[in-house]
Amino acid sequence: MRLVLVGPPGAGKGTQAQILTERLSIPKISTGEMLREAADRGTALGIEAKSFTDRGQLVPDEMVLKLVMECLTRFREDEGYLLDGFPRTVHQAEEFDRWLADRGEALDAVVDLEVPSEVIVERLSSRRVCPSCGASYHLVNRPPKVHEVCDECGHALETRDDDRPETVRERLRVYHERTEPVTNYFRQRGLLISVDGQQPVDEVTAIVIRRVAELTASRK
Ligand code: AP5
Repeated sequence: MRLVLVGPPGAGKGTQAQILTERLSIPKISTGEMLREAADRGTALGIEAKSFTDRGQLVPDEMVLKLVMECLTRFREDEGYLLDGFPRTVHQAEEFDRWLADRGEALDAVVDLEVPSEVIVERLSSRRVCPSCGASYHLVNRPPKVHEVCDECGHALETRDDDRPETVRERLRVYHERTEPVTNYFRQRGLLISVDGQQPVDEVTAIVIRRVAELTASRK
């Protein structure tokens, strides 16, 4: 199974990616996570990427394409994967399509999580993440058992650098300008599944799994 998860910032891509990779037994590639890890390690790529992410801008296509392709070549051909937050521009989508075609591979589905901007602003202002293990919480919808402490590893939770309100507004603007066209790109190829991301997390997961199964069955 080769899946892509797209949607605006805070739509629940990371939350669903974590659950879906476990339920479907496929590895996950999250470009946002990879870029944050590289920044935390202080690599040249990570430091350069952070200069874009902290301003709510997309990291240049060529940097992201190299990162993703290098990662994908490490997977077994039959293993499948879930891509969280890639492709995020039409250029990335076209280059990725070419890369897949060269290998005789194709995507199974692209899931677009739809959430309105006002809900996103609220979600991201209440998001807390664990800098140690990467677990993500929402202070109201998915609170940790102990306030501001990670359930998984006990580390103090933090607010992501790019979750400041002015950066969230810029991320949303960039999403509408550069990433929304990607959903049309995949819609035209019959791969797009749009899901209402405002429903409870478990319901979103169940709908995604059902709709992906329906789409792949309809091609047989
Ligand atoms: P990335 O980390 O991918 O950020 P994003 O797309 O802005 O998405 P988020 O991680 O903010 O949100 P999410 O959709 O994963 O939501 P989450 O599950 O956390 O990328 C960061 C940056 O890296 C980008 O801005 C860009 O600069 C760069 N980058 C990454 N990929 C790139 C690419 N391909 N090209 C160029 N640049 C790239 O949920 C959010 C909150 O809501 C949480 O608190 C969660 O608990 C809660 N929540 C989730 N689901 C629900 C629900 N159903 N109901 C209620 N609350 C929910």
